[in-house]
Amino acid sequence: MARLNLLEETRFEKVPVSVYPDQNSASKNVANRIAEIIRAKQEKGEKAVLGLATGATPVKVYQELIRLHKEEGLSFKNVITFNLDEYYPMQPDADQSYVTFMNKNLFDHVDIDKANVNIPDGTLAPDQVNAFCEAYEQKITAAGGLDIQLLGIGRTGHIGFNEPGSAPNSGTRIVTLDDLTRRDASRAFGGKENVPRKAITMGVGTIFKAREIILMAWTETKAEIIKKAVEGEISSEIPATYLQLSDNVEFILDEAAASLLTRFDLPWLAEDVTWTPTLIKKAVVWLALEINKPILKLTDEDYNAHGMAKLVTETGPAYNINIRIFNELQHTITGWPGGKPNVDDSQRPERANPAKKNVIVFSPHPDDDVISMGGTFIRLADQGHNVHVAYQTCGNTAVWDDDVVRYLEFAEDLANQIGANTEAAQINQIYDEERAIFATKKPNQIDTELVRKIKALIRKGEAIAGARLVGLPDENIHFQDLPFYDRQKFAKDVSFEDDIQQTMELLRQVKPHQVFAAGDFADPHGTHKVCFDILFEALRRLSKTDEWTKDCWLWLYRGAWHEYPIHEIEMAVPLSPQEVYRKRLAIFKHQSQKDLPVFPGDDPREFWVRAEDRTSDTAAMYDRLGLANYEAIEAFVRWKFD
Ligand code: F6R
Repeated sequence: MARLNLLEETRFEKVPVSVYPDQNSASKNVANRIAEIIRAKQEKGEKAVLGLATGATPVKVYQELIRLHKEEGLSFKNVITFNLDEYYPMQPDADQSYVTFMNKNLFDHVDIDKANVNIPDGTLAPDQVNAFCEAYEQKITAAGGLDIQLLGIGRTGHIGFNEPGSAPNSGTRIVTLDDLTRRDASRAFGGKENVPRKAITMGVGTIFKAREIILMAWTETKAEIIKKAVEGEISSEIPATYLQLSDNVEFILDEAAASLLTRFDLPWLAEDVTWTPTLIKKAVVWLALEINKPILKLTDEDYNAHGMAKLVTETGPAYNINIRIFNELQHTITGWPGGKPNVDDSQRPERANPAKKNVIVFSPHPDDDVISMGGTFIRLADQGHNVHVAYQTCGNTAVWDDDVVRYLEFAEDLANQIGANTEAAQINQIYDEERAIFATKKPNQIDTELVRKIKALIRKGEAIAGARLVGLPDENIHFQDLPFYDRQKFAKDVSFEDDIQQTMELLRQVKPHQVFAAGDFADPHGTHKVCFDILFEALRRLSKTDEWTKDCWLWLYRGAWHEYPIHEIEMAVPLSPQEVYRKRLAIFKHQSQKDLPVFPGDDPREFWVRAEDRTSDTAAMYDRLGLANYEAIEAFVRWKFD
């Protein structure tokens, strides 16, 4: 059995877990451990045998190993590697192959002898696969066994490509990929339909034989599966739970991936905590939802039975705590997201003055505004504020080619109808050229500049229609078309200076009292996060010079995917059934994103359904906590500048 955790705070954890502030420091630590193994073996004149993984997770480990090679003389001459897996079928020179990945991310930059590199072969004929798998196992044994095995974790809980249902003693074999795994890979392949259905993977049993196993996970997207893998029961449903049976395993996490472990998420259950106001609010909301009681009905016994006895002794009785938290939640609710004029605003989320505010909603893609905060957007316009919207990127990546064909046909027909024959002929030429390109287009092939422009125009028209439905005058609708968005299609490391300058200019023009922005921080390279960073930097710089910034509040909405947890919400804007309907109509204006957007992510629901589910869930939770029962609620958190 794995080492038992004797410390109180980690008593829910069934494997050793180390948490680092971020993935850079964690990756450096892992790289150093690998370097130590390589050096120790070198001194003894032996080979180091490394089990390697692909995917986003180990990239920084490989970067650090390359740095150690280039700057500190770490040699890979005595290294033999075995990769965990490869898609099947897969040509080694394909962009998505794990051979290409490993060469690009590690092998091409170090002095490893390529004859010592082993990656499962995706080109085998079906009747050769079993023999290959057996030989792969034998080759690992003949090399002396794996000194260390690196693992990532899939959201299905897979390690390697050992999907749910895998046996603990499984060896290297061919497997069928889970649907969620294929969806997660769909971006790299330009659509799920292009992701192979099978893979060759080392088995759980193969991984177990390694002398040291390190499972790494970064970002919030992994938090849920990490909680199950670390604290859940061992089950073939989550193959990573098998690692609880190993004596040689360590989970290395960043804070975001560890955030749902009990010691971080519900620390009062794990240890004696210091009760801060934020923690009290979180715990009370959790308790009420957990035992399904409105806050005002929680008793001392309820608190005592759920790790909160000390809280009741220190600040109780329950009645006092209940009233305090109930009032705090009550004060987040407002039908006046721009502030209610001429009333006492001391207990309201927004200022009463100025009664008429300059407001700007920043929307990373052209539909995030209406999807995420459409109801609030409508209220702000209805309540007479001077509301602007800024579409930060053109969103052209998410438009289908057949929409381009449709619009070109329309443009050509229109030109013909009005007798603009030269223009019609020009459009016809573009039409023929682009159709020929589309006919042989490979997944993920970057569009011509013209097609990118047409796709951007399609989304522009939809965004204008949406914003007009909300009630904005045309002059308040701004298309930033930030340059980083297209630039990133060609290069990884791009500068954002012109994006920041452009954003500063717009802010100076509007001089907003309220800025609304998408606060999605989970995906550090995602468009939402980049857009937020640009906006934040623009505001930060302006705060040093421009007087109006002193009276400017920044409100965050959570983007298209998730909602803020109840205890974090600082402004809850209730929507009536009619407002929900108007919001739906605004979302419908984004026709190119309806039915089946190019990148639907891992949620098959249409955007308007997702938006309505999310806001009615928040409303239902307020109701369960004993507050008023609304049709829907949109939630916001205020960003405070320090
Ligand atoms: C990769 C592998 C997979 C990944 C896992 C996580 O060789 O076997 O188990 O480690 O799918 O992928 P990322 O790191 O891309 O989130």
